Amino acid sequence: MPVKTYLVTGGAGFIGSNYINYMLKKYGESIRIINLDKLTYAGNLENLKEVETNKNYTFVKGDICDKGLVTKLFRENDIDRVVHFAAESHVDRSIRNPETFVVTNVLGTMVLLNAAKDAWVQADGTFAEGKKFLHVSTDEVYGSLGETGYFYETTPYDPHSPYSASKASSDLLVKSYMDTYGFPANITNCSNNYGPFQFPEKLIPLMIYNALSGKELPVYGDGLNIRDWLYVEDHVKGIDMVQEKGRLFQTYNIGGHNEKTNIEIVHIILDTLQKFLGDGDERKAKINNGLIRFVQDRKGHDRRYAIAPDKIRAEVGWYPETNFEEGIRKTIRWYLDNEEWKDHVLNGEYQKYYDEMYSQK
Ligand code: NAD
Ligand code: DAU
Repeated sequence: MPVKTYLVTGGAGFIGSNYINYMLKKYGESIRIINLDKLTYAGNLENLKEVETNKNYTFVKGDICDKGLVTKLFRENDIDRVVHFAAESHVDRSIRNPETFVVTNVLGTMVLLNAAKDAWVQADGTFAEGKKFLHVSTDEVYGSLGETGYFYETTPYDPHSPYSASKASSDLLVKSYMDTYGFPANITNCSNNYGPFQFPEKLIPLMIYNALSGKELPVYGDGLNIRDWLYVEDHVKGIDMVQEKGRLFQTYNIGGHNEKTNIEIVHIILDTLQKFLGDGDERKAKINNGLIRFVQDRKGHDRRYAIAPDKIRAEVGWYPETNFEEGIRKTIRWYLDNEEWKDHVLNGEYQKYYDEMYSQK
């Protein structure tokens, strides 16, 4: 079997690093991965310690918007698969500074699409067998649900934040390349992920670290917004399965049927930390509901997300293997066992942002 070459973008971030670690473990020497990542505040090579010396893994520091670099990567490597994670991914940041979201998420995606199309198209306009592009997207493109109902692949797009609008735009670009050129791609739209290596600006790691350091836990609005949580390893398995077994040109929704309000999540984190910390640990006494602080709501805050993962289950055979109780225990255990990880990922730029955000909550 020839070795398949993957170009993974954003592989130093949360989901991308979990994907690379999983893929190299699963496929061993039968795949080669090139990880193109700009190493923004959210990207960290600490997440890839496990694979850094693997001879089938190469890291390239660079920007997906850099047309020269991306074209060169396609010219110099016979890339079979693209798995595109690179993005600005945090909604709160997009509300403060939408511009970088449009540049990376929209223009960056177009640069990648063009480079892959030019490298893969044949003289007759068709695409070489086996070449595939997977665009990793989000359920936030569908907008917000009321108390009932689910997001299906056919749900009309209705993004509300600059982040979700930029992801929706990138999805539509991918779709346009499939429709116009027959470009061999898939789109996956996934719900909220949690697990190891998630940057501590997102709800779950932020609450874990704040509780451990006795800081307040800022809950936006009434705390009753609902997210549909999926353990990150289930997401990366789903991405791999879509590329291996999915029908080209299709969108697949990925989600865990695991809806929780934000305040429920915070209580689960507090209870689990209480159980995990030893009686001699002085932090234990400070971890209680008194840390919870209801703060000003996020602007344009979507009320509820919930994915119907019926299509990926029926066509690809994917289903979420990790239930929330197990996943959150594994996650909290990981953050406790890897407390030094936080010091590696919090660079000066992020700390400044964090202090600013925190002082307003
Ligand atoms: P993340 O913010 O943790 O990581 C993003 C990575 O992309 C970082 O390593 C960063 O350095 C890199 N990057 C950013 N701009 C870049 C650029 N211009 N060029 C090259 N690299 C760049 O994000 P994440 O949570 O791992 O999300 C990955 C993808 O999955 C995103 O596309 C996001 O929209 C999507 N997604 C995330 C979730 C979630 O819950 N986190 C759910 C569904 C979909
Ligand atoms: O649904 C998929 C999306 O999930 C991904 O596309 C995004 O990249 C990812 O960041 C995530 O977006 P959310 O906005 O849902 O995630 P976040 O962790 O920022 O917030 C989860 C919920 O918790 C949301 O309702 C806002 C709330 N929240 C968040 C933070 C950071 C708080 O109440 N307090 C906080 O401090």
